Amino acid sequence: MLRRLHPEQPASFAFTPANLEWAQAQISKYPEGRQASAIIPLLWRAQEQEGWLTRPAIEYVASMLGMAYIRALEVATFYFMFQLQPVGSVANIQICGTTTCMICGAEDLVGVCQELIAAKPHTLSADGKFSWEEVECLGACANAPMAQIGKDYYENLTAARLREIIAELAAGRVPVPGPQNGRYSSEPEGGPTTLVDHVEGRNSHNASVRLALDIGDTVKRIDGTEVPILTPWLQAERPSPAEGEATEPTPGAGVPADDTGVTVQEAPATTAARAERTEPAKAADRASGSGVKPVTLSSPRTDQREDLTRLEGVDADTQAALNELGIWHLDQIAAWTAEELAWVDANLKGHAGRASREGWVAAAQALLKADGN
Ligand code: FES
Repeated sequence: MLRRLHPEQPASFAFTPANLEWAQAQISKYPEGRQASAIIPLLWRAQEQEGWLTRPAIEYVASMLGMAYIRALEVATFYFMFQLQPVGSVANIQICGTTTCMICGAEDLVGVCQELIAAKPHTLSADGKFSWEEVECLGACANAPMAQIGKDYYENLTAARLREIIAELAAGRVPVPGPQNGRYSSEPEGGPTTLVDHVEGRNSHNASVRLALDIGDTVKRIDGTEVPILTPWLQAERPSPAEGEATEPTPGAGVPADDTGVTVQEAPATTAARAERTEPAKAADRASGSGVKPVTLSSPRTDQREDLTRLEGVDADTQAALNELGIWHLDQIAAWTAEELAWVDANLKGHAGRASREGWVAAAQALLKADGN
């Protein structure tokens, strides 16, 4: 498909102050002379801000990165995720038209879009609320046919269900994403035939649907406030993170995190080397009456995520909630004090009180011991 700039363009583009700060932080992640590496996140942010990627936005980003306009245009026109024309104010519906979805009914979904939105893709509906397009495989082939709407996947669609979804979106509601035929994730339609002991007691939605519901931003646009910037090397220039905001290990700049002389990034998986929160921060936590926040990490210490579902009562959904709090490792859990346990009990989204009830601290200590740690 030929991807061209839209014939009608706005006069100018500029990031909002919040998005400009975010963009400058992204650029700071790359070494001097390699700022162009930030082009995709910056173009994406510009698209999120405007709804579609305009020529002034592409040129603005190119200028920020010291790139020739044509280089930025090459990127913008190559990737389908960049919308080069206005999209619906409520949603742009991306129907997967690749082989698996096609043989499972994608043409019927396209027919619904043609009937309810516009005869041709990349065209606004009469009320300006919707647009649609056919895209290449979105990687959810086991749940074909499917569509991406906003940030989420709607899977196992039928023409009738897609009609309902469009009607719900038009009425200002956001339908629950994920499989639309009662499947939990991508198990056989008659139910799982393996790992059946995981069915009992699981959450009502799979982890990605749960996350979508918790975050609630399926068709919401970015305004610069959703995600903390997480560039600690710029921390001195910014205010301290708000309570509950994710923290990130200090880059290994040789600054000792504690008496061991080991930086947080290099710390081995032992409780002895854990960095403590400051006393004023702990005092503020105590004053709030819901325990003391334990040390958290913005990401696991290694590329290999630790399997927290080894703990009794922790399923994939609970593990996602723990990770969201910055808890990735058994040794973090094994080291919780009573006050920290109380904080986790109070703050683990959708699982209040569970850490105490299930005895995770003792269980984590036992697992670490069994593992020889
Ligand atoms: S073929 Fe549609 S998601 Fe892969």
